[in-house]
Amino acid sequence: MTVHFIGAGPGAADLLTLRGRDLIAACPVCLYAGSLVPEGVLAYCPEGARIVNTAPLSLDDIMSEIVTAHREGEDIARLHSGDLSIWSAMGEQLRRLRALQIPFSITPGVPAFSAAAAALEAELTLPGLAQSVVLTRTPGRASAMPEGEELAAFAATGAVLAIHLSIHLLPRVIDELTPHYGPDCPVAIVWRASWPDQRIIRATLGTLNAAVGTELERTALILVGRTLGTEEFSESRLYAADYDRRYRPLGPTPRFPQAS
Ligand SMILES: C[S@@+](CC[C@H](N)C(=O)[O-])C[C@H]1O[C@@H](n2cnc3c(N)ncnc32)[C@H](O)[C@@H]1O
Repeated sequence: MTVHFIGAGPGAADLLTLRGRDLIAACPVCLYAGSLVPEGVLAYCPEGARIVNTAPLSLDDIMSEIVTAHREGEDIARLHSGDLSIWSAMGEQLRRLRALQIPFSITPGVPAFSAAAAALEAELTLPGLAQSVVLTRTPGRASAMPEGEELAAFAATGAVLAIHLSIHLLPRVIDELTPHYGPDCPVAIVWRASWPDQRIIRATLGTLNAAVGTELERTALILVGRTLGTEEFSESRLYAADYDRRYRPLGPTPRFPQAS
């Protein structure tokens, strides 16, 4: 018996890995975080599967579901939205599974920030403008931010910020970032990326407040940075015609001579 943690992706049911889909189809039990996991993904469960929405459950309740399935020798598909490596609450479940010596596997998923960048038709890292993306959030009722992880600290680097779980604090986000990026810095909000009702708002830090109404709640990402919506950047050296590289040796004495 194995608990298969599967990243269920950002929304669209087909933004799921083939491995994730096949594991879901092979498991007689599916526990899914119903606050965000798209119901469309549940269509891959086999007929007669026991499907449990864990949104209203406590960690103890979830563990009790897992222990029961373990006793009965039934594999579990454990679904969390996006990828499992960020804000999935997988860590605390893994710790308990290790203590109980219950086997598990982990299958990554498409994170929301990737789906949001795709919706914006954007590469977030562009030569000369930004080479780092910070996945972060503001403090919430259930999660304080460790000291040093304030938005302003990340903003001071000039990296692109992908700010999660924070749409309800938009005015505060704008106030903290404007001194660092300037009011003309491009911003995009992607609400429910990849869902059928996806919405995109593009603005600058200076105009964003007026551009957003109160209707965008919860499932939204705030992206801030100089790479958003610009055509003003250099081309990468990697594909430059005169760049001598392992896969395209150039000239009489290439840096990486091909073995004959
Ligand atoms: C609990 S976190 C889950 C993150 C997830 N594990 C991931 O890999 O993206 C939930 C937050 O992720 C963002 N999010 C999740 N799905 C999204 C989507 N489809 N579109 C925009 N933002 C999304 C929102 O900021 C939301 O508040």
